[in-house]
Amino acid sequence: MCGIIGYVGNKKANSILIDGLLALEYRGYDSAGIATLENNEIKILKDKGRVKNILNLDGYDKLEGTYGIAHTRWATHGKPSKENSHPHFDNSKTFAVVHNGIIENYNELRAFLTENGYTFYSQTDTEVIPNLINYYFTKLNDSSKENNEKILEAVSSATKDLKGSYAIEVISPLIPETIIVARKDSPLVIGTSNGENFVASDIPALLTYTRDFYLLDDNELAVITKDSITFYNNNLDTYNKEIKNIEWDASAAEKNGYEDYMLKEIFEQPNSIRETIGSRLKLNEPCNFDDLDISADYLKNVNKIFIVACGTAMHAGLVGKVLLEKLCKIPTEVDIASEFRYRDPIIDDKTLCIYVSQSGETADTITALKLSKAKGAKTLAISNVIGSSITREADYTIYTHAGPEIAVASTKAYTSQVVLFAVLAIHFAEILGFGNSEITINSDGGTITLDNLKKDILSLPKKLNNILENTDIIKQFADEAFKEKDVFFLGRGIDETVAREGSLKLKEISYIHSEAYASGELKHGPIALIENGINVISILTDPSLAKKSISNIQEVITRGAKTMVVTNQDLEGHEFDYVIEIPEVCPLISPILSVVPLQLLAYYISKNKGLDVDKPRNLAKSVTVE
Ligand code: M6R
Repeated sequence: MCGIIGYVGNKKANSILIDGLLALEYRGYDSAGIATLENNEIKILKDKGRVKNILNLDGYDKLEGTYGIAHTRWATHGKPSKENSHPHFDNSKTFAVVHNGIIENYNELRAFLTENGYTFYSQTDTEVIPNLINYYFTKLNDSSKENNEKILEAVSSATKDLKGSYAIEVISPLIPETIIVARKDSPLVIGTSNGENFVASDIPALLTYTRDFYLLDDNELAVITKDSITFYNNNLDTYNKEIKNIEWDASAAEKNGYEDYMLKEIFEQPNSIRETIGSRLKLNEPCNFDDLDISADYLKNVNKIFIVACGTAMHAGLVGKVLLEKLCKIPTEVDIASEFRYRDPIIDDKTLCIYVSQSGETADTITALKLSKAKGAKTLAISNVIGSSITREADYTIYTHAGPEIAVASTKAYTSQVVLFAVLAIHFAEILGFGNSEITINSDGGTITLDNLKKDILSLPKKLNNILENTDIIKQFADEAFKEKDVFFLGRGIDETVAREGSLKLKEISYIHSEAYASGELKHGPIALIENGINVISILTDPSLAKKSISNIQEVITRGAKTMVVTNQDLEGHEFDYVIEIPEVCPLISPILSVVPLQLLAYYISKNKGLDVDKPRNLAKSVTVE
């Protein structure tokens, strides 16, 4: 989704703005633009296409300004074009604005401004913002006030008129070397360093410059110069804000010799899940969550858990459901955030709602969280990004600590989320007094003790390494499969949740149509699509379901399908085209291993097709609009 960058300091702003935009490219965009000030006049360079195109626009080299704003646009209102790209001017070219979010009442505001003599050159919702600022600024005909005071008031009044979501930056020749920012329901951070300050949509974009950040909250404004940052609330009262020191270093957000971020992030998984486990889980000790103060009294009262998320985070939630139900015996439902919000879920103070979001900025997830809070539930956020919006809204937060995830296709965030669900479920089980119980893990009545489950969790990094050292068969399959148009992913039980994640990964970066089904459901319709040569990928890790799953695979082989099986079961006596063997582990946490060959498969297929793995078409890393 749209990305925002701002700089004010002593250096030339143009290259800093461009570097910032390049660092935000992973969010997904279709146009880019920058604005700086030259001789008291705002210069805007913008166009559809890549950030690098700005370097070739007339006048780029001549931009001497030491402050400015910049933007990558992910089109919502109006197709990608120069006119629709940001920054946008007001009619008098006194204010330039970049915006991330959606102004839901832009039609009304446009009509109101038109009645007041304003005209519009773009189809965007954003263009109303600079004109509204102009409107309020012009109305404030108060000569006793300085321009900076008047403009701040105008920005504040304008934002009060906006319905929807926004993170904005405003510059004007009337207030040199100053950027005004404001936000509601869209991310915005301010990085600070000696004699220079920065603005961005997310933290990794600024890590080469600083590790010190202020996180702007909803309905807050800030006035930023090179030496000062002043924070204001809605009523324009000033206040102090806490600075956050971010531990991630810049190299964590670089490719470090890998061809793509996605590949790097896949290979980081042994380490990222080690970080997720951290000191939370040790053998022969109860789990320890320093960052989660949930009491036994509260938890014993919880009679329902909702896990709410989008995309891959929702798939991690599907595994979380199994873990929480098996270990804690609390009924758990998983919901897609964009649906949850509108389906009037039955929630009260006995409901715990867990929100999972790598970025912590997903608009649907944040909105759903706010809804459940309003209905009286306690909310727990699972996020990867320290201080992200969701963590600021939730009652409790636990972090995955997976390190920055840059590729649009989520990989290490998923495995860390699942690991965290496993450790959290053990922690809850211990709080609830189930610490010494045997946990039933499958339909054959197989059981595991919590101690053995802990051992299995701690064995995961080594087992992941083992998978990552043996990628040849996956590559061979990818060399054939990249020519195909349709793929099916099948699994039963927990393997079905992995089928869904494998299918999502493949479609988003290879653009191959794929479907995931519970293996047993295939013959109730989709089997009609199975024909000679079609690829069917099955995940098979639960011994109690193996026989049934194998029968389902036989059914597609009989109809001509080419099969790949990801398994830790003994398949002797069965003929499949490709078998990817993965190490054995308790079925409750097998997704952490079985997903990895599917991530690699999607990656190799995308490479074979010559696609941009890290920045697939139409997708954005943080989906900050509903
Ligand atoms: O940042 P979030 O975890 O909230 O993001 C949720 C989804 O948008 C995300 O997982 C998306 O599905 C990924 N592109 C999947 O690879």
